[in-house]
Amino acid sequence: MNPVKLTENIYWVGAVDWDVRDFHGYSTNRGTTYNAFLIMDEKITLIDTVKISKKSDMLARIKEIVDPEKIDYIVVNHVEMDHSGSLPDMVELIKPEKIICSKMGEKALRQHFHHDDWPYAIATPGEDISLGAKTLSFLETRMLHWPDSMFTYVKEDKILFSSDAFGEHLGTSERFDDEVDQAILMEELTKYYANILTLYSPLVKKLIAKVQEMNLELKMIAPDHGVIWRSNPGMALQAYDKWSQGKGDGNALIIYDTMWHSTEMMAKEVGAGLQDEGISYKLLNLRYNHRSDVMREVLNASAIVLGCSTLNNGLLPRMAGFLMYMRGLRPTNKIGAAFGSFGWSGEAVKLLNEAMTDMKFDIVDDGLKVKYVPEEGDLGQCIELGRKVGQALKAKKI
Ligand code: FEO
Repeated sequence: MNPVKLTENIYWVGAVDWDVRDFHGYSTNRGTTYNAFLIMDEKITLIDTVKISKKSDMLARIKEIVDPEKIDYIVVNHVEMDHSGSLPDMVELIKPEKIICSKMGEKALRQHFHHDDWPYAIATPGEDISLGAKTLSFLETRMLHWPDSMFTYVKEDKILFSSDAFGEHLGTSERFDDEVDQAILMEELTKYYANILTLYSPLVKKLIAKVQEMNLELKMIAPDHGVIWRSNPGMALQAYDKWSQGKGDGNALIIYDTMWHSTEMMAKEVGAGLQDEGISYKLLNLRYNHRSDVMREVLNASAIVLGCSTLNNGLLPRMAGFLMYMRGLRPTNKIGAAFGSFGWSGEAVKLLNEAMTDMKFDIVDDGLKVKYVPEEGDLGQCIELGRKVGQALKAKKI
């Protein structure tokens, strides 16, 4: 239960959740952390809290440093329950002088916990709060991830407490970016952005521009999930910069579900066509790939080819669920195409195309439908479809 020192008088006092496997529909296969931070100064300040089930872990860590009742301020960077779940109990225990939050944060806190008597203090960008030796300044970051979200920056130490942004669902005994496997770190950073922030990419883009304009020196970025970026905060910033612009890597995904393997046969031949054009691709069968892992791949892909059999005049349920999820996240700047087998009505391809049109994908073909089981000529058309997508990718020079 040891706290972890970030720098002089600033500590991680959060909790590791090794067991969580679902975060509102996002598979968290490696668990997560709920990060909270303690600043020891004339005004002792707690930045964020943890999910209610982990409150005792956080309290034990705080007690290693100070009696929790001596805390003066609580900063709430984000009201979602994984960070504010312990707040009512902490307020009861600490009786803080100030609960520092954004304007929208105050509203959200009142609507979550129904305490009009809490000592809300609105953090205004440009108006610093002195803790004694250290100074807090604030950035409004609405919709990253909720309307209430904000960042807190400690000027003297150049540490940005970035709430959900730049985080990962990664439960580890290590606390810093240089202590974990870099491939796993990038995989989880990617998955987090893909499943939490893709929809808000225009706001991320503005935020990155604002941080650059402010010339904000960043010695560390301390998000509310996963590791603290102390060695390479630039890695997280550069990745966010790329993703917020919808830049793909030039590769393609064939995402499909199949009833009796006909659509699967088609998927493999579409892949052969892509390969003919020298395009790197992945076949992702929704039966075996969780939607949130598929979204991680979508983030970096430049073309999405969707395949589905027709069932009851519609889509197979796994594809219908995936499309609903992807449409909510609204990835941009993708080339799209669709295919699928059918028995008598054959609506699936039309529905796939409609979904991709809604997401403003650049659809390069009307779509390929095959009745029952494809024969050689049909499979040849699948290869042609793959080639067409590959050629469109090359023409776009992604
Ligand atoms: Fe980690 Fe939006 O909560």
